[in-house]
Amino acid sequence: MTFICSRSEIRHKLIEWYNTAGRALPWRETRDPYAIWLSEVILQQTRVDQGMSYYHRFLQAYPTVQDLASASEDEVLHLWQGLGYYSRGRNLLKAARIISDEYKGVMPLDYKSVRALPGIGDYTAAAIMSFAYNIPHATVDGNIYRVLSRLCAIDTPIDSTQGKKIFQKQADLLLDPKHPGAHNQAIMELGALCCTPKNPQCDTDCPLPDCCAAYKLGLTAKLPVKQGKVQVKDRYFHYFFIKYALLSGQKVQTYTFIKKRPAGDVWQGLYEVPLIETPSDMGVESIIALEEYQAIIRMAEHPPSLSGPLAKLKHILTHRRIYADLYLLEFTGTQLPSLDGYEAIPITRIDEYAFPQLIKKLFNTINFLL
Ligand code: ADE
Repeated sequence: MTFICSRSEIRHKLIEWYNTAGRALPWRETRDPYAIWLSEVILQQTRVDQGMSYYHRFLQAYPTVQDLASASEDEVLHLWQGLGYYSRGRNLLKAARIISDEYKGVMPLDYKSVRALPGIGDYTAAAIMSFAYNIPHATVDGNIYRVLSRLCAIDTPIDSTQGKKIFQKQADLLLDPKHPGAHNQAIMELGALCCTPKNPQCDTDCPLPDCCAAYKLGLTAKLPVKQGKVQVKDRYFHYFFIKYALLSGQKVQTYTFIKKRPAGDVWQGLYEVPLIETPSDMGVESIIALEEYQAIIRMAEHPPSLSGPLAKLKHILTHRRIYADLYLLEFTGTQLPSLDGYEAIPITRIDEYAFPQLIKKLFNTINFLL
């Protein structure tokens, strides 16, 4: 578990490589801790090319921590729409409010206070410290696990408690105390561009083949080791898109019904149309027999018959495989009915609400009907 070259040689080669091969990314051109924090939160689970436009849009909408702190959760989630892992957006807002209320709108300067903010773990705190303030804290993310496991030929699983300790220690040892920000960016960039999970570019692009234990031992393809696959659970969602044509005199206004998803499940704080979840897949006949379905169509003066589904999608999340069906229910009446837990909104305002990508995709498939 040692480095096979001197640490100063590795640091030097890494930085030289980064200075020529590293990408010019906007969050690397700033020392603003807020912009750096925002970029790191976005990039936690998102590719650079996908996260870029969100980064720019957030900074444009909320140029400072205070601007973000005074936004509503609905606004932030609306802007976050499409990025996934929405707790990141909710925590970003919570932390901005704490920074605004308790630190006069300035990101604290010490690791402990930064680490204590909602949504900020070891990695993000170290990234803010080193990128914004050049204070020596080693970042360890997925890319860095991979680089270090190969560099030192460590086969301890990266997702084990012991592995996390070992890799953090190696990263701390390797960190360049004089240039911690550039060093952290460089090692991460090596993992992103060269020391990739499949087909790493050891012979063509890597600055460290002579210092890489895995390369010398022919172990590159076997590292890093991961111990556990996450358990994936299947869920079956049946959505009902309601078009309620409200007649008043000569006028017709169309409403639909939505509700905010509660805490304790995926997509907390995002909106959805009426949903029935079943423990296994179900077709129309079985759905019609459900009390939850009867409760929905009770709002109709003349209940329509259910046909469809109009769209079917499979949606993969980290711990879930969601099988979603979308049905359309069209009602007409002279008085807007209520549906327990849901609010009626004019259908034309639907874009003002943040929905999970799954629901957006389902909507797109029925767009021609709207
Ligand atoms: N992924 C996470 N942080 C990153 C950064 N600062 N630059 C590029 N990709 C990243």
